[in-house]
Amino acid sequence: MSNNIEGKVVVITGASSGLGEATARLLCAEGASVVLGARRHDRIQSLAGELTGIGGKALAVTTDVTHCDQVKRLVDAAVQTFGRIDVMINNAGLMPQSPLDRIRVDEWDRMIDVNIKGVLYGIAAALPYMKQQKAGHIINVSSVAGHKVGPGFAVYAATKHAVRALSEGLRQEVKPYNIRTTVISPGAVATELPNSVTEPDVAERIHKFYEEIAIPAESFARAVAFAMSQPEDVDVNEILFRPTRQEL
Ligand SMILES: NC(=O)c1ccc[n+]([C@@H]2O[C@H](COP(=O)([O-])OP(=O)(O)OC[C@H]3O[C@@H](n4cnc5c(N)ncnc54)[C@H](OP(=O)(O)O)[C@@H]3O)[C@@H](O)[C@H]2O)c1
Repeated sequence: MSNNIEGKVVVITGASSGLGEATARLLCAEGASVVLGARRHDRIQSLAGELTGIGGKALAVTTDVTHCDQVKRLVDAAVQTFGRIDVMINNAGLMPQSPLDRIRVDEWDRMIDVNIKGVLYGIAAALPYMKQQKAGHIINVSSVAGHKVGPGFAVYAATKHAVRALSEGLRQEVKPYNIRTTVISPGAVATELPNSVTEPDVAERIHKFYEEIAIPAESFARAVAFAMSQPEDVDVNEILFRPTRQEL
């Protein structure tokens, strides 16, 4: 394990596009076995097929992270197929931003369910195995919005602040089990994320912002690889990165 990635079993939620897909590709190329979870089965199935077709190890498991039993099934499938779970990447998320006075309660609920509860379900599924193994690495995806709040993205920012709070609590609690924890907070990265914005005026602004400054999804994948590839006694707890041009 010269790169400390080769041979590791990595479960990734939200692997059907964007950051999750880019991370699956990079880690697989570095010799990890990747287990892909998302709702769009055709996407993860075809990605798994592509990766195995070039000699990689990959498995697709249809998963909706708002269902605790489905996230458990994803992690169980990783252990059944590859014998263990070394890294859990709780990445699935959405960002339907809108000002609070639009009262988009449905979208608030959805963000809380996916961005917060989905992460908790990932922790619930992976932690028992990692405790038993006395090894593992849980990587949660927050955002610049986990550090900053602004008009129009209060709920999204609240969910991403929650991910950082959870990650810090987790970090402190899993020391006895030799488990590493990393929270990664990206700025604007070019993915399908802006498509989750439904309010037309907000969507237009965000698409324009992303078109102007977003950086490629490989930037995130490299941050994951950096955290994973440290020696096992080095725990990179937090990474915050942005496009060089991004002010917020
Ligand atoms: N791109 C950015 O600028 C940026 C910045 C900061 C943080 N982030 C965070 O990065 C993470 C990944 O987002 P992305 O930028 O890669 O956007 P993306 O391209 O839209 O990908 C989002 C992923 O989440 C999955 N997902 C959504 N709801 C799900 C559910 N209920 N169950 C399972 N999977 C679900 C989607 O898969 P299915 O639709 O197939 O289920 C998709 O694979 C998110 O947590 C996001 O908040 C992104």
